[in-house]
Amino acid sequence: MSQLIDPFQRAITYLRVSVTDRCDFRCVYCMSENMTFLPKKELLTLEELDRLCSAFIGMGVKKLRITGGEPLVRKGIMTFFEGMSRHLDSGALSELTLTTNGSQLAKFARPLADAGVRRINISLDTLDEAKFAEITRWGRLAQVLDGIEAAQAAGLRVKINTVALKGFNEDELFTLADWCARKDMDLTFIEVMPMGDIGNENRLGQYWSLKDLRARLAERFTVTDLAERTGGPARYVRLEETGQKIGFITPLTHNFCESCNRVRITCTGEIYTCLGQEGKSDLRAPLRRHPEDDAPLQDAIRAAIGLKPRGHDFDYSRQELGGQMSRHMSHTGG
Ligand code: GTP
Ligand code: 5AD
Ligand code: SF4
Repeated sequence: MSQLIDPFQRAITYLRVSVTDRCDFRCVYCMSENMTFLPKKELLTLEELDRLCSAFIGMGVKKLRITGGEPLVRKGIMTFFEGMSRHLDSGALSELTLTTNGSQLAKFARPLADAGVRRINISLDTLDEAKFAEITRWGRLAQVLDGIEAAQAAGLRVKINTVALKGFNEDELFTLADWCARKDMDLTFIEVMPMGDIGNENRLGQYWSLKDLRARLAERFTVTDLAERTGGPARYVRLEETGQKIGFITPLTHNFCESCNRVRITCTGEIYTCLGQEGKSDLRAPLRRHPEDDAPLQDAIRAAIGLKPRGHDFDYSRQELGGQMSRHMSHTGG
């Protein structure tokens, strides 16, 4: 079957699939406090998720990342992972992974490793218990730390994702870097993106540029830019004194759209071909209407990829003019 190539000659080899809009936390930059969640019948079933992902893998997707909401709160999710492992065994898929808040890992780390997951990304913005409860609105830091330990004990490689937030975790830059180095975990900082209903909160006020963060690191370390990329959006630097590598995901100050290789599926079966654009197409209808025949689904996937835009449209300067995206990050899984 021919590969998925978008209008800008980029091959689509990375699929991010949100398996639920629910989460046991409510990070302030991700969800509003009183989110209403989707009724169950709107969600793709586990069988539909399997069929959809398998169709993409048949069309050249090599990397599959499961997201949410919090993917591990989806009932029966291990059945899905176990099913996907057949594509690892056959060599069709090179990586099966997930991005999680870590809260359920004490229970799931071992089964995930058994299903062929090797690396996972865990979101963690602070190592301070009170601040953790504040940013997640009620999460318990200890639960996540236990989850991280379980993941490492199960042999999973861990990357920590930290959203850089002005006035919130600026003071933890070196603590977080030290902690990750000691535990042999990778660390990536992410610029907060202007998404979701922020109510009275001002996302612009939370925005901490990673250029500034890099300059802060340079006050204490010799910071060298590395040329290597890992197929994700992160760029890396090395702290020469310790050898630690740190990733930066900078959609605002340095976008990485020209090398974009990914598309996203929501838990209701919509495909978003760019995180920072509203354009989407429905894949649930062809999936449900033709339970025995994948051809209409494949046509719909190709048509959607044919509409993938050149890049995102985030721009903080437009926020005063209402330029913020209304979609919540939890909808498309980050
Ligand atoms: P690896 O490189 O495989 O470790 O993962 P990743 O960085 O692709 O995945 P992860 O879920 O850790 O992504 C981290 C964050 O980067 C996401 O939650 C988003 O906030 C951001 N991000 C990932 N892909 C894109 C993208 O295509 N566009 C934009 N603007 N941001 C992205
Ligand atoms: N800006 C940047 N990153 C975000 N995430 C959630 N919302 C935002 C936002 N508005 C991150 C989470 C997690 C990943 C899935 O997305 O912290 O690491
Ligand atoms: Fe949940 Fe992750 Fe969103 Fe936080 S950022 S509310 S942990 S999905």
